[in-house]
Amino acid sequence: MLSKFHKVLLGVSLGSLLGAGIMYVVLPSAITQPMPQEQAAETSGSALIGGSFTLTNQNGEVVTEQTFLGQNTLVFFGFSMCPDVCPQALNKVTEALNALPAEQQEKITPIFISVDPERDTPEQLKSYLAPLHPRFVGLTGTEEQLASVRAAYRVYAARAPKADAPDGYVVDHSAIVYWMNPNGQFVKFFDSEATAAEITQGLAAGL
Ligand code: NI
Repeated sequence: MLSKFHKVLLGVSLGSLLGAGIMYVVLPSAITQPMPQEQAAETSGSALIGGSFTLTNQNGEVVTEQTFLGQNTLVFFGFSMCPDVCPQALNKVTEALNALPAEQQEKITPIFISVDPERDTPEQLKSYLAPLHPRFVGLTGTEEQLASVRAAYRVYAARAPKADAPDGYVVDHSAIVYWMNPNGQFVKFFDSEATAAEITQGLAAGL
């Protein structure tokens, strides 16, 4: 028979388990926290993150998810007028890729998907990405096309007024780099806390 103390303990443990279970259901676990086993993370992640899209690249060409099959991709959402988050993330990805041997760099295509189609024309993306890693692809599209790809990657973006920003607004957005494998399936993510060295190591271990 359980003492009162043990019943309380049992209740707390069950409560934690249930709480954890609910969190896994409500939030994409791949984003909120790593799962205990890599296999589990990959399985749930591949079901949750990514999907089909149709967008326009920095050369004005229409591309889809099929365009990138056969390559690993590092997918990041942002906008070229972003004051801090995007430059930091894109520079970090560039640094991480440059630290890999050339033959590994060639297996990876970093992709920047705009959350600001009004200003991020293909031409704007082309000049914005020019100083970054030469394999960078910039994608933009209609509001509808971009909303659809954001939904596929579970990415948040919302325009917000800001008096001292160019054109009086910024776009708040998620800052996660998604690594997709050559079949277009989610492998893992790197959040804004990940260092360039950690990204390099993560990629090198999985290529
Ligand atoms: Ni940004």
